[in-house]
Amino acid sequence: MNKVLVLGSINIDFVSFVSRYPNPGETFIGKDFDIFQGGKGANQAIALAKLDIPTFMLGKVGKDSYSDFALSSLVKNGVNTKGISKSQKNITGYASIWVNSQGQNSIVVHPGANGEINEDFILQHEKLFVETSWFLIQFEIPHKSILFALNLAKKHGLKTLIDPAPVGQFNLESIFKFADYLFPNEIELKELTQTDDILSGINMLKSKGVEEVIVKLGKGGAGYEDKGKLILFPAVPVDQVVDTTGAGDCFVAGFLYGMMQENDIVQAIKTGNLVASYSIQRKGAAISFPRKSEINWKEMAR
Ligand code: RIB
Repeated sequence: MNKVLVLGSINIDFVSFVSRYPNPGETFIGKDFDIFQGGKGANQAIALAKLDIPTFMLGKVGKDSYSDFALSSLVKNGVNTKGISKSQKNITGYASIWVNSQGQNSIVVHPGANGEINEDFILQHEKLFVETSWFLIQFEIPHKSILFALNLAKKHGLKTLIDPAPVGQFNLESIFKFADYLFPNEIELKELTQTDDILSGINMLKSKGVEEVIVKLGKGGAGYEDKGKLILFPAVPVDQVVDTTGAGDCFVAGFLYGMMQENDIVQAIKTGNLVASYSIQRKGAAISFPRKSEINWKEMAR
């Protein structure tokens, strides 16, 4: 049973494309603007569904009209939304995003309805933990709920994938023992371990109970530890980087797709890199992710 349950944020992204980031107190005219489906949870769910993986999403949208945009985009892309409900109190989560000429992004999130996800809400949907075998979570929902959901996932024997973004002021020690796969980027790895050295950081997390740590390195691809060595897999080269928003989410989904195919971490990382390479060549987060049929899988052999 290769079904996935994603618990996480559902946002609307307000994206300004800029030549550079503004300084404090400065106003200037951006190059372009768009409104996209976003949220790390929704992005990862959509990326999986686009790869034809049966995917259930557990989360909350707001009482505003943007909630319909978010829901319809999830449904249109094939995500099962029976675990999503509408808040009576809060607006949908929003993200203000700047994307510069190199395609790099800076993001500020207002959680809105995502902040309402609590233990009761998760328990009401316990059935989804029974129907699935993989559990994917990120850190844009309340921390108590993350811990509770991971406990529940393990109670039902699910394999867990944790994307610790954003790390925030969270005592993560309690989480590590639930992590089969942890996906920090370089900044998050440093925040989690207080070291700049990737291999030392990975070893530190593994000594605390994380089964596998896969570090996302952006342009540098991704890496993991094997037999005491850091093994790196370079990113798949592309002609032009347009927008890196959501590339990390797309990588995680690609990794999971790869694990489901061959149960091999090397192939899974290569798959993550390949799938993410498509997303950075188009604007937006979820909308930029590739469908399984458009991926040139021969690239995997390179
Ligand atoms: O990972 C990218 C996502 O982070 C954006 O879509 C934004 O909504 C924030 O959640």
